[in-house]
Amino acid sequence: MSKTKTKVLIIDDDPKVGWILSEGLSKKFEFVTARDGIEGLQMVTTESPELILLDIKMHGMTGIEVLEKLNKLEERPEVIMVSGHGDTKYVVDSIRLGAAEFVNKPFDVQEVEIHINGVLERSRLRKEVTQLRGELESKSAHSGFIGDSGAMTKVKEIIEQVADSELTVLIRGESGTGKEIVARSLHQQSSRKSKQFVKVNCAAIPRDLLEAELFGYEKGAFTGAHKTKQGRFEIADKGTMFLDEIGDMPLELQSKLLQVLEQQEFVRVGGIQNIKVDVRIICATNRNLEEAISEKVFRDDLFYRLNEITLLLPSLREREGDIPLLLNHFVEKYNEQYEREFSSFSPEVIDQLNRFSWPGNVRQLENMIKQVVVRGDETIIADLIRSASGGSPQRTAGSGEISRVAGSTDTGLVSDTYSLKERIGQIVAREEKALIGEVLQKTNWNRRRAAELLEISYRSLLYKIKDYKLNSIE
Ligand SMILES: Nc1ncnc2c1ncn2[C@@H]1O[C@H](COP(=O)(O)OP(=O)(O)OP(=O)(O)O)[C@@H](O)[C@H]1O
Ligand SMILES: [Mg+2]
Repeated sequence: MSKTKTKVLIIDDDPKVGWILSEGLSKKFEFVTARDGIEGLQMVTTESPELILLDIKMHGMTGIEVLEKLNKLEERPEVIMVSGHGDTKYVVDSIRLGAAEFVNKPFDVQEVEIHINGVLERSRLRKEVTQLRGELESKSAHSGFIGDSGAMTKVKEIIEQVADSELTVLIRGESGTGKEIVARSLHQQSSRKSKQFVKVNCAAIPRDLLEAELFGYEKGAFTGAHKTKQGRFEIADKGTMFLDEIGDMPLELQSKLLQVLEQQEFVRVGGIQNIKVDVRIICATNRNLEEAISEKVFRDDLFYRLNEITLLLPSLREREGDIPLLLNHFVEKYNEQYEREFSSFSPEVIDQLNRFSWPGNVRQLENMIKQVVVRGDETIIADLIRSASGGSPQRTAGSGEISRVAGSTDTGLVSDTYSLKERIGQIVAREEKALIGEVLQKTNWNRRRAAELLEISYRSLLYKIKDYKLNSIE
């Protein structure tokens, strides 16, 4: 049996302590000895003992002083204090400083053995708990982020590698691929996780308000600025700022963002004072930023600065084998949310789901599953897929094509119903989708300009883009 013995460092100016313990316990422990505090502290580094027996009263540094120094180490061995007569007044100090146990001189060797074993056992359990907690945290950081396919395993790997760094991450991918979930996961797995995760959707906030929202404003900076207001960057201090739809950030603001990235400081609207912040930035977009650069609507210097790491999320079509996992996850989620007891899908339906091309990716799948669970009827899947794919479920089977509907006159939205109301609704939807697609193409996906031309509000255009699953990916 060649089990390595636990190493115990004895720091005591009385050599007898070492002799007695070595004599009685050398079969179980390996003892190394130091005659004073300074030598003892050195030996902590050179010998890496698991436990220290530390005399309280020594010439030179006292045991209490040694313990204080040990506490400055990132990790220190467990400490058992050895006290002589009259040292009791130091006991309280030792407890405060985290000594694990006491032995009184003169001691009984067996008693010391029991104490050493007890302390080592407690320390081992503590380490186990810490490790389990760490594992649990890293699991829960990925919890709700489903996917075991090769493509998703790679994504999770990159998240783990870059989460706890200061690198700016640009998350790209089609709509509904989980960019926001990834941004949250990056924050959750970083040391900033106890601070704020602040999300700003650059496309959803009107451009005039975006600057004030991000950087705050001083009282009187503009009409209506009755008092000074902190911007989101200040709120995100020491935390993470998630700039969603970064491709829609107006050019004027891009230079101010670049300044925050480079100097970690900015000025509030209407202010003169530089405000320093420590913010980690994560961005997401489903727009083609390279194209936006060539069209001079996105700064190339900002692009390079944002793009320290790019995480490209695969479309659902590229995630071989993930659909059944996602099904289980969403069934569980909506059973709980809507107090339903939908059990499982038949192999035929799973096959249909596997063969669909999912232009709206995970979001689209989630919406379908939600409807199935709420209605408790899996047969609606065929209809849902048919209407999502333009009438014919076969069209999409295994095609892997991206739904590129901008400007297309996709006729598929009409199904074979005789209900006049439903038919008209479908025709209107088809026309509306085609017109919005055309205008978006005309304006190079400048949504604000498109909303003006269509004479609808910017917000309702965003809803319609989502509803019709229009996307700009060419
Ligand atoms: N891997 C995943 N596991 C579980 N749920 C997911 C996953 N990916 C996405 N989802 C779910 O799909 C929906 C869309 O995800 P998310 O909002 O993160 O997508 P997105 O890429 O930001 O889309 P968009 O570009 O339209 O903003 C969310 O409800 C999210 O919870
Ligand atoms: Mg998003």
